[in-house]
Amino acid sequence: MTEAKKSVLITGGSRGLGRALSEALAARGHRVVMVARTEGPLLDAARAIREGGGDAHALVADVGEPGAAARIAGAAAAMVGPIDAVVHNASTLGPVPLKPLVETTDEELEEALAVNLVGAFRLTRAVVGSMVARGAGLILHVSSDASVEAYPAWGAYGVSKAGLDHLSRIWAAELDGTGVRVLAVDPGEMDTTMHADAIPDADPATLARPADVAARLVTLIEQAPAPSGARVVAATLSPAGAL
Ligand SMILES: NC(=O)c1ccc[n+]([C@@H]2O[C@H](COP(=O)([O-])OP(=O)(O)OC[C@H]3O[C@@H](n4cnc5c(N)ncnc54)[C@H](OP(=O)(O)O)[C@@H]3O)[C@@H](O)[C@H]2O)c1
Repeated sequence: MTEAKKSVLITGGSRGLGRALSEALAARGHRVVMVARTEGPLLDAARAIREGGGDAHALVADVGEPGAAARIAGAAAAMVGPIDAVVHNASTLGPVPLKPLVETTDEELEEALAVNLVGAFRLTRAVVGSMVARGAGLILHVSSDASVEAYPAWGAYGVSKAGLDHLSRIWAAELDGTGVRVLAVDPGEMDTTMHADAIPDADPATLARPADVAARLVTLIEQAPAPSGARVVAATLSPAGAL
């Protein structure tokens, strides 16, 4: 069956999972708007997709900055029309190297919350009205096993992701009956910059490739095979094939 082509807004689209997901969605004919702070890699990533025939747009913004959400929502809609799905993928670890809570500063905790939790909240709030008016939409929060497991030294990040999981459930409850679905997904450990920053001595061979996880997230975005409010583990999803 041919899937309807969607306009998808992806934060953290310049590398890692966000870039792989942007590539995978564009390869299947969806329109993508990719957000990140650093202009060069973001423009390169979007250009590479366009050179491959995909419909990709770059939007430089910091999702942790209070004014960013309205700007992102407005610019994205101008680029690709009404947003059908938003993927809250941009994230920070907080302090690097990771450190225990007793050594974590106010600013480090606040930064993790601002980017990973408050940024997602604001951006959903900026796009959800249009989704409700159209009676359809998907909000996808990229979580982590650190949201449910209390890993020592992952405090700022883990707290922010636990908050994100619950934010996802509350949005789902409040949007019940509107046609807008809200999910969280744990992508599992991947060979990315973030993982290398967190665990520099990890063996990349033991980590998933972002492209493989992205293919599973495409299934989630195209088919939403889970009830709104669910927290899905990506490894349980079937990967969407290339078209
Ligand atoms: N890698 C793993 O093993 C793993 C495991 C569990 C969960 N996750 C989750 O998976 C998601 C993707 O992680 P990843 O490993 O692909 O990360 P990554 O390789 O570090 O990529 C992060 C992306 O987010 C952007 N970004 C960071 N802060 C931002 C901000 N304030 N505003 C806008 N964009 C921002 C980065 O670009 P700029 O720096 O230029 O902004 C980059 O495009 C995250 O939510 C992460 O928590 C990852």
